[in-house]
Amino acid sequence: MRVAITGTSGRVGAALARHLAGAHEIIPLPRPRPDLADPASIDAALASLECDVWIHPAAITSLEACEDDPALAMRVNAEAPARIAAWCADRGVRMIHISTDYVFDGAATGRIDESAPAFPVNVYGRSKLAGERAVLAHPRHLVLRVSWVFGPEKPSFVDAVFDAAMAGRPLAAVADKWSLPTSTADLSAWILRLLETDACGALHACQSGEPASWHDMARCVVDEMAACGWIAAVPEVRRESLETMEAFRAQRPRFTAMDPARLSAWIGESPRDWRVALREFVRAKSEARGSGFTAAAGGP
Ligand SMILES: NC(=O)c1ccc[n+]([C@@H]2O[C@H](COP(=O)([O-])OP(=O)(O)OC[C@H]3O[C@@H](n4cnc5c(N)ncnc54)[C@H](OP(=O)(O)O)[C@@H]3O)[C@@H](O)[C@H]2O)c1
Repeated sequence: MRVAITGTSGRVGAALARHLAGAHEIIPLPRPRPDLADPASIDAALASLECDVWIHPAAITSLEACEDDPALAMRVNAEAPARIAAWCADRGVRMIHISTDYVFDGAATGRIDESAPAFPVNVYGRSKLAGERAVLAHPRHLVLRVSWVFGPEKPSFVDAVFDAAMAGRPLAAVADKWSLPTSTADLSAWILRLLETDACGALHACQSGEPASWHDMARCVVDEMAACGWIAAVPEVRRESLETMEAFRAQRPRFTAMDPARLSAWIGESPRDWRVALREFVRAKSEARGSGFTAAAGGP
């Protein structure tokens, strides 16, 4: 299949372009082809495009950037996918749109399934919800909600913890906010499987396991680093509270762990436990650093 992918300079788009390339013809669409903030640029890109599937991870993903410019957030995260979804539907092209657990308000106390009502608490979440609703107005399209994405394509919170632990810097992470993360490698494998199905509507695309806080994830990273021998002992990770995070100007939902059962039914297996996927990522990251590693950095 010819698969157009936006946002290929981003974490998810880069992973998809790499993992899907063996099985499909990839048409990468990094900015400015198109610039999603500019409807004329989108129309120009669409005019010359021929594809069977359009995968759309591109978005403004900084919560603070969305708070600072709500109109731009709506243009890029809602109006652009709406335009692309209509173009796809007119041509029989299937659209797979990437959305977020931040469409939820965080008040849930158990895993959230796709039937739960969405009430976003910030501009990012509102813009993403408007985008996914526009896409879902077309019955063949698919929306995958992902969460706390990690992978080798672009540093995330997980890499910040790894680097700080390697450098022997003090560690701290929020311990009173929970979700279930998504590995880019696993997400790519799920999408490869979904391309063989008629899955449509919304699907929660995250790992399985017990809901995790950022503190739980940080602990998992340093435990695995110590098990691999990259740090001599497991360092303390100080517990922080969401309320004390001064850099967070946008409100964050507190509990957004999603239930991937519907995804499991489509792909024929349960997503791996987040700890298994994260430990594998840390091991691969450690091995990749191996050749350039020095004792001065604190390792073996
Ligand atoms: N990362 C997470 O933890 C997370 C969690 C939940 C949901 N999601 C969702 O997953 C999707 C992918 O996220 P990600 O982590 O890959 O984000 P990312 O690394 O921030 O990448 C975003 C991509 O969108 C592109 N983009 C932004 N504005 C654009 C514009 N005006 N025109 C064209 N391209 C534009 C960026 O291009 P430039 O490089 O040129 O800026 C980049 O390629 C997003 O839809 C996000 O809402 C992510």
